[in-house]
Amino acid sequence: MCGIVGYTGYRQCTPILLEGLKSLEYRGYDSSGIAVLENDSLHVEKAEGRLAVLADRLQEGVLLPGKTGIGHTRWATHGKPSDENAHPHVSENGKIAVVHNGIIENYRKLKEELIGKGYHFVSDTDTEIFAHLLDYYFRGNILEAIYKMMRKVNGAYALGILCDEMPGTVIAVKKDSPLVVGLGKDENFIASDVPAILKHTRTVFYPEDGEIVILRPDSVEVYGKDGERIEKEVEAVAWDASAAEKGGYPHFMMKEMMEQPRAMADTILPRLAGSVAQPEISGLSEAFLRNVDKIYIVACGSAYHVGVAAKYILEEMTGKNVEPDLASEFRYRVPILTEHSLVIIISQSGETADSIAAMREAKRRGAHVLSIVNVLGSTIAKESDDVLYTWAGPEIAVATTKAYSAQLCAVYVLALYIAEILGTINLEEAERFAAALRALPEKAEELLSEHSKIQYAASRLSSSHNIFFIGRNLEFAAAMEGSLKLKEISYIHSEAYAAGELKHGTISLIEEGTPVVALMTSGALTDKMRSNIREVKARGAFVLALADVDVEIGEEADVVLRIPKTHHLLRTSLAVLPLQLLAYYVALVRGCDIDKPRNLAKSVTVE
Ligand code: F6R
Repeated sequence: MCGIVGYTGYRQCTPILLEGLKSLEYRGYDSSGIAVLENDSLHVEKAEGRLAVLADRLQEGVLLPGKTGIGHTRWATHGKPSDENAHPHVSENGKIAVVHNGIIENYRKLKEELIGKGYHFVSDTDTEIFAHLLDYYFRGNILEAIYKMMRKVNGAYALGILCDEMPGTVIAVKKDSPLVVGLGKDENFIASDVPAILKHTRTVFYPEDGEIVILRPDSVEVYGKDGERIEKEVEAVAWDASAAEKGGYPHFMMKEMMEQPRAMADTILPRLAGSVAQPEISGLSEAFLRNVDKIYIVACGSAYHVGVAAKYILEEMTGKNVEPDLASEFRYRVPILTEHSLVIIISQSGETADSIAAMREAKRRGAHVLSIVNVLGSTIAKESDDVLYTWAGPEIAVATTKAYSAQLCAVYVLALYIAEILGTINLEEAERFAAALRALPEKAEELLSEHSKIQYAASRLSSSHNIFFIGRNLEFAAAMEGSLKLKEISYIHSEAYAAGELKHGTISLIEEGTPVVALMTSGALTDKMRSNIREVKARGAFVLALADVDVEIGEEADVVLRIPKTHHLLRTSLAVLPLQLLAYYVALVRGCDIDKPRNLAKSVTVE
């Protein structure tokens, strides 16, 4: 979490930094700050609250002139949101300013050591360590100071640094936290994520852990772990700046929900040749797949819900044993992994701390790691054995929608691919599945065009205190995601239950008017779901049913939303769309900050 930016060039930097921070606010938004180096003097301004507070205080940049600077938007880990705890942090003599994304694990010990050396701390953050430690080691050579600092500090960091003895220079270094360097003409940039610099340049490179980058207006130098100069390969970012803007929608979340048909199509269509799946992965040979004893799917949050759906899909299509697991649990248990295990890590950002740790643990234990990732060049994409990218484009709203949908589509392609290699699907069934996949984006489009019933349901649900989501099998996976969407952006407590499990305790919470969102499948489980709905209805529940077009439903439900017919394994993809819209409209009625829900950040780079 937290977002950092840096600029050096020929223009006034504060407006550029403020604008960059605005597009990084999804990473944290409880306070922000900017440091500017004007000739050889450092000026810092910070403010608790949203970026707008800082922008106001600086009159959009007028009050902080200078052409070299760093900025930060914070998601508190150490110390509450406040002016003092906001970054940048500055050494006591005012020589060095630092912005930091990440977390220092041994900061208590380092803080004690520095206090013992006479340093005074003014914040409760771990980051302030960097300012004092760099000051302690700085003897005129910033590279040497950073190498010494890196040897002392354990943890994750991407740092932007200014030093008053280096006018016109921004210094950056990273370990286990994301950092991108943008190259312009007579100006250069750093940022936690590409959207922060897209307006100015699409030419970028991604420093590796331990590399130090020295940026001046007309040069960018990179130094390796042993002080050697490194030439980096630059890349052109395919997205244009408009991909990271709202494009006329009131919120990024609405824009991103509406982009789902495109994200689905981009993730599926280039990978289908007739009925044959052709994902660009090379590590899953037939011999390996035949011997796979178990497939683990490891992820966090919504990406984990994709993993739950993937269990049903992969088990049915490939006949392999599949176990979804939360990355934060997986990394600390003793999973049985051999060279015959396949571990699939799912992550939008590719930078989620627990997912990275789980991936490394799986690799250490000899498993083959395939990742499903949205952000090119991210840590998980770089370190896994195979990557299957989701082509969702930049996702800015904190609550994921299009990345979730694209992840599911990547799972469908992967399942078809494995099933075809193993021969667990026959040609006719493969053709049926591929045709359904091709039709999925259009059905999603159809479903996303109908809002009025959802808005009505949202107004009925908006003053509730508890909402339950129930479903069976794949609809249970969709229910989990619908429930998370609702609670994270509307702050209404909600729970998802496998419908058959409700009567084993939780049904005691159902009383007159309690909303229950029930996902009705067609097929073998329709009657089971009908009974579950009657059970809650009999106890006074207000039932909102999501049902396939051909499922008959009458008195049991108060509101019915219809889902177009699709292949039974693809239903989750459609069922989740009205649930996302429902969460959105409930949050809207309640006046919540939809794109930036409280206490959250987009990319969870801390444990
Ligand atoms: C919820 C949400 C989170 C993420 C989770 C994993 O809307 O976005 O639950 O799914 O933090 O993040 P990634 O996919 O970046 O690893």
